Amino acid sequence: MCPSSVSYQSAYYSKKVVKISGDVKVPGDKSMSHRALMFGALADGETRITGLLEGHDVLNTAQAMRHLGGVAVRGDDGIWRCSAPENGELHEPSEILDMGNSGTSARLLMGLVAGYGFSTIFTGDASLKKRPMGRVMRPLSEMGARFISRDKGRFPLAVEGVPSPKAVTYESPVASAQVKSAILLAGLRAAGTTTVIETAPSRDHSENMLRAFGAEVDVENLPEGRFAVSITGGARLEGCSLHIPADPSSAAFPAAACAMHPGSAVTLLGVGINPRRTGFYQCLEEMGVDILYRNKRVEGGEEVADIKILAPEKLVAIDIPPERVPSMIDEFPAIAMLAACADGVSRMSGLEELRVKESDRLALVAKGLTDCGVRLEESESGLIIHGNGKPPQGGAMIETALDHRIAMSFLVLGSVSDEPVQIDDITPVGTSFPGFVALMNDLGMDIAPCGEDANDRKTA
Ligand code: S3P
Repeated sequence: MCPSSVSYQSAYYSKKVVKISGDVKVPGDKSMSHRALMFGALADGETRITGLLEGHDVLNTAQAMRHLGGVAVRGDDGIWRCSAPENGELHEPSEILDMGNSGTSARLLMGLVAGYGFSTIFTGDASLKKRPMGRVMRPLSEMGARFISRDKGRFPLAVEGVPSPKAVTYESPVASAQVKSAILLAGLRAAGTTTVIETAPSRDHSENMLRAFGAEVDVENLPEGRFAVSITGGARLEGCSLHIPADPSSAAFPAAACAMHPGSAVTLLGVGINPRRTGFYQCLEEMGVDILYRNKRVEGGEEVADIKILAPEKLVAIDIPPERVPSMIDEFPAIAMLAACADGVSRMSGLEELRVKESDRLALVAKGLTDCGVRLEESESGLIIHGNGKPPQGGAMIETALDHRIAMSFLVLGSVSDEPVQIDDITPVGTSFPGFVALMNDLGMDIAPCGEDANDRKTA
């Protein structure tokens, strides 16, 4: 199936199918899983976590918490149990903390260890080593931590924490839940109240979950749509029981695949619908997709629903308002695939943060779509995609640069394009969506390793 010139060991392809249908449960929310493990391994008493995402990124967080002396173990019953070390205090890790591909583990843990009087050394994979850490180093330095880093704020990096950080008020120049959470975690150990001023509403799982663990977190609305998020330092966290809902960012891939195939219907079970995460689903509706939210309930302190996606006959092009960006920051690769199939010109702006994700997502989406025959214009912080109401040609080998969401997005596009789409490396998908290929194939997609045809698979 792949061109014979391609020799990538973990290259996969996805080829055209007629329909996508079924009911599926995607893995647990990545953001909430990281936080549950971190807070659980800081808390007195036992924390029991069900539904945890067991992807590479989250397992790196669990390992890091163990290196710091916390308890984070998976029982044979699939339940994760966490607690603080016996004496209640984390200790200096004797190992370098390898955060792999995970920006969330990296930045949140930098904040967490900044409040302890010991040194921690962090590293990560080739993608994480390119990502900017100055955004957390600046506020944490104001709180008293010191850093030594490569290339002015990149991994590998060492943090020298302080046992009692200074409580600060910090206005973050980027709308980033990772920056906000790093400061709140250091603030948990400070004497007094630490406040983060946000200029746009980033995901609020840290605030919600810290409250569930007994911390005092207040949110105040400020003029011009800003918020002040404050944490009272000195509180000990108390263990609790948590269920992690399915990840709306992972659910975006089966939702997008369904929306591209007229006559298709997919139900995504138990998905988190926190309004700070659902911008993608709002966009789907504006593109003509029917969405039904059923069985609304609260799980892990967050609202959850079964989401039924009904594909339209034709997808309509969309203008995505920049203020919606934080609520769908990880879904732009997926929405770009839909825009490529839609009728008309779609515009997206305010996307500068996409350049510093697991890859430069704007550049890789633009290159991959262009190679698949889509006409588009890429600017420093935006994308204009000219859809002509039918699926693109496809037929390209996509460079994924260790980015799980680039890999999954282009595999989704391959399910509708005239020629199969290939990706150079499937392995990063395991960071956020273990079981992606099997789940998508169960819905009717045709994804397989390069060199293996669907017919081979059926007889294998
Ligand atoms: C995350 C926040 C977002 C998001 C990332 C997960 C989190 O990053 O892109 O996948 O769990 O806090 P930023 O804070 O950099 O926007």
